[in-house]
Amino acid sequence: MGWLHWERFLCGTDCGTDPHRCVSERLFVEMADVMVAEGWRDAGYEFICIDDCWMAPTRDEHGRLQADPKRFPSGIRKLADYVHSKGLKLGIYSDVGNKTCAGFPGSYNHYDLDAQTFASWGVDLLKFDGCNSGTLELLAEGYRHMSLALNRTGRSIVYSCEWPFYLRPMQQPNYTEIKQYCNHWRNFFDVYDSWSSIKSILDWTALHQDSIVKIAGPGGWNDPDMLVIGNFGLSWDQAVTQMAMWAIMAAPLFMSNDLRHISPEAKWLLQNKEVIAINQDPLGKQGYQITKDKDFELWERPLSGQAYAVAVLNHQEIGGPRNFTFPLTFLGNGLACNPACSVWQVLPASRDCGVYSWVSSLSVEVNPTGTVLLKVVAL
Ligand code: GLA
Repeated sequence: MGWLHWERFLCGTDCGTDPHRCVSERLFVEMADVMVAEGWRDAGYEFICIDDCWMAPTRDEHGRLQADPKRFPSGIRKLADYVHSKGLKLGIYSDVGNKTCAGFPGSYNHYDLDAQTFASWGVDLLKFDGCNSGTLELLAEGYRHMSLALNRTGRSIVYSCEWPFYLRPMQQPNYTEIKQYCNHWRNFFDVYDSWSSIKSILDWTALHQDSIVKIAGPGGWNDPDMLVIGNFGLSWDQAVTQMAMWAIMAAPLFMSNDLRHISPEAKWLLQNKEVIAINQDPLGKQGYQITKDKDFELWERPLSGQAYAVAVLNHQEIGGPRNFTFPLTFLGNGLACNPACSVWQVLPASRDCGVYSWVSSLSVEVNPTGTVLLKVVAL
């Protein structure tokens, strides 16, 4: 869990004219301060991550990556020290190819040196992009090589990959192999601050669930990209859907928003302890879609303690709130509510829904593009 500059903060913002919003050490220091002061760290958002365009356009005389002196005048090491002093961890970004997606120096031919540089700076996470990687062999070799190079530094560094996303147009990813090397991996396009983007990520995930769900677990997760809650593009119900569904998908929770200016509602949702507990459930199983009809989608995620998280998403974009009624035998292959269960609503608001027997049905009312998230515990 953490915060990442990309989506909300892009490379084009100029530090001269917009110092408050450009990608710079000031942005990271201010965000780290807010993460501590406003309860984000204590809610579990531990990593603060730099994305593209932190680098100078060339390497130094020893071939090492160096920070852009205008954006990060004190250097990354100093920033890492500051972030650590706040009880947070620092993430950084590079690319398997010879240039990053925004055209800065990539790590190709420098994997060992870059891993050592990041470790010497005290970096705790590397997001490794896949632009400009050349052939499929180079892409795979690069992702493997960087994983081993990070391990050889002896520092614990989370390895965040986009390997399957760049591979998939040409070849079916081998997820067993990818999980051997990466801690999480992007499968699909970049998230945008819009409902159509959230919808497309959910649709893609449901369509490919037979191949991607079973591989997820402690040490390796599918990454549907950042939470964009607290920005401009999602309605309240759509924000609830993103939070609920990212919990069902066992997604890494990296926010991309401006924590210095965020509504109390968005903060409540993003810091909601019950949803975060579902997202971080120690059983570590990813959820999946059970059924979908023209109005609703029903998803479940097995949790520790004989429990299930259940999401009912109303994907209608017309009309008002609608009821969805389903037999409880739909859940957990008939076993989630056997012989009885308690049902607790987590989102959009915390509420006790009572005790049910396994032959009963449950009815929930869901707003258009909204989701009701439940926790069902067998009794
Ligand atoms: C790619 C990645 C994004 C972001 C940008 C930065 O598009 O998928 O998450 O890192 O590059 O240029």
